[in-house]
Amino acid sequence: MEQLTSIDAVRSYRKGVAGRLGFVPTMGALHEGHAALIRRSVAENDATVVSVFVNPTQFGPGEDLHKYPRTLEADLDLCEREGAAAVFTPNSVMMYPAGFTTWVNVEGLTDKLCGRSRPNHFRGVCTVVAKLFNIVAPTRAYFGQKDAQQAIVLTRMARDLDLPLEVITCPTVREPDGLAMSSRNRYLDDRDRQRALSLYRALQAAETGLAAGETDVATLKRACWAELDGNVERVDYVEVLDATDLGALDAVNRPALCAIAAFVGSTRLIDNVILTP
Ligand code: PAJ
Repeated sequence: MEQLTSIDAVRSYRKGVAGRLGFVPTMGALHEGHAALIRRSVAENDATVVSVFVNPTQFGPGEDLHKYPRTLEADLDLCEREGAAAVFTPNSVMMYPAGFTTWVNVEGLTDKLCGRSRPNHFRGVCTVVAKLFNIVAPTRAYFGQKDAQQAIVLTRMARDLDLPLEVITCPTVREPDGLAMSSRNRYLDDRDRQRALSLYRALQAAETGLAAGETDVATLKRACWAELDGNVERVDYVEVLDATDLGALDAVNRPALCAIAAFVGSTRLIDNVILTP
């Protein structure tokens, strides 16, 4: 496996890849959720590139940019184990050289859910991913359903900008007890780790409600809130929206995204499920 540390190195590596190139962009602190994306890419392409870059422009003031876990040695081992052909590890200076002023904004889809409490977050995500797509020039790029809004926004970006690649969304990987895997789970102590399960239980409550015939969005959201109450410091949102365009829904009469963001201690966690009527 090669470690590529400059944009030029990636470009010349790309020239040598015959056939389909899969790409898995990450911020590192890799876990089984990332590993599943890499495995899928390795299975579906002739070579796979993983990027590891903690992208400063998608963090807001006061967010966890500086304490975000950085575990490069272990990340490189995981990529190698899973069969990645190369890992791109750029730094902020090469991604955002002095005088950088160009941004990619996907409108509408980014006003809601995480975009509401993290105003420039998706601008940062879209800009860095567009740049990485231009550098790596993959055939396919793999993202996780764990970050459902991110996957929807990036799929729209690729379509709207005619980017010549396929965006593929892969299922959320969970711990045995249901907690969605996340690099930020490392911030949780034992007690908060237990309380974090309330997000999963809340999503299960919505699924159970729907399975019992309840389609009213307000009622399903109340079932979620009941599980979160007392277990989390603060709920950022509980939403049930159209799963393809994030439009408002009164009733789950088509596939719906049930999404939660909440603070457990000072750690902001997100999770979601698709509710299918
Ligand atoms: P990061 O949080 O490192 O996630 C990288 C990819 O792994 C994303 O597509 C994310 O959805 C996926 N992922 C994370 N946890 C997962 C889980 N439990 N199951 C399945 N997939 C999971 O998302 C980012 O980085 C950044 O915003 C990035 C796209 C790299 C741009 O900076």
